[in-house]
Amino acid sequence: MEVLLRDVSKVFPGGTVAVDTVSLHVRPGELVVLLGPSGCGKTTLLRMVAGLELPTAGQVTLDGRPARTVAYSGRDVAMVFQELALYRHMSVAENIGFPLRWAGFDDAARHEKVLEVASALGIGELLGRRPSQLSGGQRQRVAMGRALVRNPRLFLMDEPLSDLDTQLRTELRTEIVDLVKDLGATCVYVTHDQTEALTMADRVAILRRGVLQDLGKPTDVYTRPATLYVAGFLGQPRMNLIEATVVVSLDQHVALRMGAQELRLPWLHMQARMLARYHGERIAVGFRPEALTPVPPDTTDNVLHGRVLYLEHHGHESLAFLDVGATAVTIDETGYGDPGTNRGRSRGVRGMLARLSGRGGRPAAASEEKAVERAGAGRHERARAELTIRLAPYPSIGVGHPVAVAVDVTRLHFFDDAGMRIDLARR
Ligand SMILES: Nc1ncnc2c1ncn2[C@@H]1O[C@H](COP(=O)(O)OP(=O)(O)O)[C@@H](O)[C@H]1O
Ligand SMILES: [Mg+2]
Repeated sequence: MEVLLRDVSKVFPGGTVAVDTVSLHVRPGELVVLLGPSGCGKTTLLRMVAGLELPTAGQVTLDGRPARTVAYSGRDVAMVFQELALYRHMSVAENIGFPLRWAGFDDAARHEKVLEVASALGIGELLGRRPSQLSGGQRQRVAMGRALVRNPRLFLMDEPLSDLDTQLRTELRTEIVDLVKDLGATCVYVTHDQTEALTMADRVAILRRGVLQDLGKPTDVYTRPATLYVAGFLGQPRMNLIEATVVVSLDQHVALRMGAQELRLPWLHMQARMLARYHGERIAVGFRPEALTPVPPDTTDNVLHGRVLYLEHHGHESLAFLDVGATAVTIDETGYGDPGTNRGRSRGVRGMLARLSGRGGRPAAASEEKAVERAGAGRHERARAELTIRLAPYPSIGVGHPVAVAVDVTRLHFFDDAGMRIDLARR
């Protein structure tokens, strides 16, 4: 089934803009994950696709027909919610078979179908039990079974795994993908968990405050995030985002000044000429730990020097957080700001780059100021940039030690003061 959203918005009474002009095309058989922090509008968007909620503006169509019509008319669409609504007084078999009663299946046909679905989900032994006699994971499987039993053409899942422990989540993640793909069904899957999104999705749609920030294959949104927000949101550890001033040295290189240090991109570097247009301006530079390698202190080319602020040991690796004497770019991470202030502020990505947009003589909107305060980096304070690097487990260096890091300048990310990726932004 094909899902098409055209400029869809939802404003709740009271003025909360839960979804802001989202356009999205989910192709038949595709699994699209809606990813974003709590309150960014994922559930509202999914409910509009399910026909449970009407958009304030724009259209949602399923195979060309209005979502509401499809949802009411058929059994083509199945939804699995985060809050499992199993019937407590019914057995597992009755719970799974429940939708078939309405579809007019007789007892024998229903029994057969329930058995088939239950064994596919590995809960064939549990058919006689009540929900209260099941573990969380088993209950989740029953809820999935109830959705699957109708052979829907469209699955809508709203954080179905978020109440489960890590082990189970990992297991069910692959099972869900397999089941959906086996059925050839289309699926819109909602989560706030980036690992789920990146491992399950054919394409990921990232939302912030009801606004679609980026849409693409997991590797694409990870390697070329379209906005500063996505850059800072995806990845563990997160991308380091640091303020830099662009300084062009004619015919030689483009320097990125960060505090007392700088990185130099030779003219031949693909992105140097593009950055040259920002001469004298402040931009945000993103470094994933993958682009940073510790080197001996006397290395000279494109090296940043810093001191270890603290270390974090993760067993298979350790992370070192370095102070490199630069300024961090802070992003307002809170999913949703004050009700009613969304529109006009965060249209597109403007307003997300709180610190940068408050500079250069451009007055920051009052709401941006607030965001800055919340992030603990007011306009007149300087947030200390931390550069996260990966080290072998339990390294010999300790807190306070100096560290030199070579930067792979071909793997940097650049964002303008509106938070747009510079090689995508038009100038
Ligand atoms: N029925 C409602 N009435 C008013 N505001 C709502 C309603 N449902 C959701 N909201 C608001 O809309 C925003 C998006 O909510 P939601 O779609 O549930 O986000 P998510 O699922 O991403 O956590 C939130 O600010 C939420 O408080
Ligand atoms: Mg939700």
